Amino acid sequence: MGAKGTDVSRNVGIDAMAFHGPHCYLEMADLANVRGVDPNKYIHGLGQRQMAVATPCEDTVTMATVAAYRALKRFDIDPGEIGTLIVGTETGVDHSKPVAVYVHDMLGLAPNCRTFETKHACYGAMAGLTSAMDWISAGRARGRKALIVASDIARYGLKTAGEPTQGAGAVAMIVGEKPRLLQLDPDTFGDYTRQVMDFWRPLYSKYAFADGHYSIDCYLDAFTGAWGDACENAGTWDRLRLDQLAACFYHVPFVKMARKAHHRHCETEWGDTVTGDDEKMVQLKASYDRQVAPWLELNSVIGNIYTGSMFLSLMDYLRKAEPAGGERLSLFSYGSGCGAAFGTGVVTDSATRYAANIDPAEHLARRKRLDIERYEQLITASETADHNEAPYPDPADWDLGPGLYFVGTRNHIREYTGSASDTL
Ligand code: CAA
Repeated sequence: MGAKGTDVSRNVGIDAMAFHGPHCYLEMADLANVRGVDPNKYIHGLGQRQMAVATPCEDTVTMATVAAYRALKRFDIDPGEIGTLIVGTETGVDHSKPVAVYVHDMLGLAPNCRTFETKHACYGAMAGLTSAMDWISAGRARGRKALIVASDIARYGLKTAGEPTQGAGAVAMIVGEKPRLLQLDPDTFGDYTRQVMDFWRPLYSKYAFADGHYSIDCYLDAFTGAWGDACENAGTWDRLRLDQLAACFYHVPFVKMARKAHHRHCETEWGDTVTGDDEKMVQLKASYDRQVAPWLELNSVIGNIYTGSMFLSLMDYLRKAEPAGGERLSLFSYGSGCGAAFGTGVVTDSATRYAANIDPAEHLARRKRLDIERYEQLITASETADHNEAPYPDPADWDLGPGLYFVGTRNHIREYTGSASDTL
């Protein structure tokens, strides 16, 4: 029982959500043309139309802070109500100091708010979300809420196989009792862990290394593992069956991956492989078109944002679907290396009322398109922008409007200018 005498373990979930990402983007067709690749490979083969690109002045801290500020403001939540802050990221800015403590300071959160960073590749924010759910369900929150932020810059480097699967951005979620958006169902969560070298980023590298095709296999095996554990924990099929789900969300490193994941989801549930064009394939395609494809629009124009990628498709659903309430949704998070979780939640009766509060369309419409020359300059400049006493990265050089920006490292201390409230 919680502080208010309610059985909080049955009514905890996502109360608020917001996105913030870089001010620049690249058209995938422009990238394909300069790399000598058929644009259809990126646009249809991978499913990506555009890719958000962070300038040297936009980092994990600035994106996380602005996304969190937006979630608090748009859902009218006082920063004093936040009792836990977790930033899930695989692009931290310091080996020791967590991104979360910068965010805590910039948002003016209370000193008794526990604050930390979670890392397990793209799974870090889901780990944060489930920890927040457990913290509240255990009665430790004493009526307060948890702020979970997924913030990352996905970078593989110029001319690599991973280049078209880059992106950047942050999703902030506020978790509490009697949530306004999505009630989480703890009994339907399952976990999976296995040591694999499918994707990693050594301490000395700004760029991720990936064994690309192997990483896809690891992801799909992790789905089977986490889903199997969820079924065992739930003890019944009722809440997990595909025909009970209004939508299925997967980690989306690139849009086509969600199709592959859904294929595996159907095969696992049906206990059968589906190939060719038989009746099962028709059923699988219909299920994908209804439960998955409509909610991948944000992913297709933002790209991979690692920890936040699955939550971007949840936001796409909540801003567009006009759910009546009571719809069950599945969530599958995969982090390379690897760790994964599968679970479900139920949309609240009030969610539709907040569709406009969640929608990042205004931010996306203001983004500036980069040409390839500028994109390559930007990637190269980012390599050394945070080095101690390096030339000052100037927001004006990248034509950035008012906002919160990283402006270099002096005396080994990161410096920022502006504030989240300045950001358009
Ligand atoms: N028209 C249409 N489609 C085309 C095409 C064309 N002209 N040319 C190729 N395609 C299709 C291919 O058939 C293929 O589709 P299928 O997978 O359905 O067969 C798709 O385009 C991609 O083609 P390739 O497999 O040949 O592409 P690639 O060898 O260049 O590598 C990649 C693709 C492995 C995803 C690579 O971009 C990569 O390494 N990305 C980074 C790693 C990654 O994202 N892994 C995902 C799982 S791990 C994870 O999820 C964690 C994370 O966030 C990193």
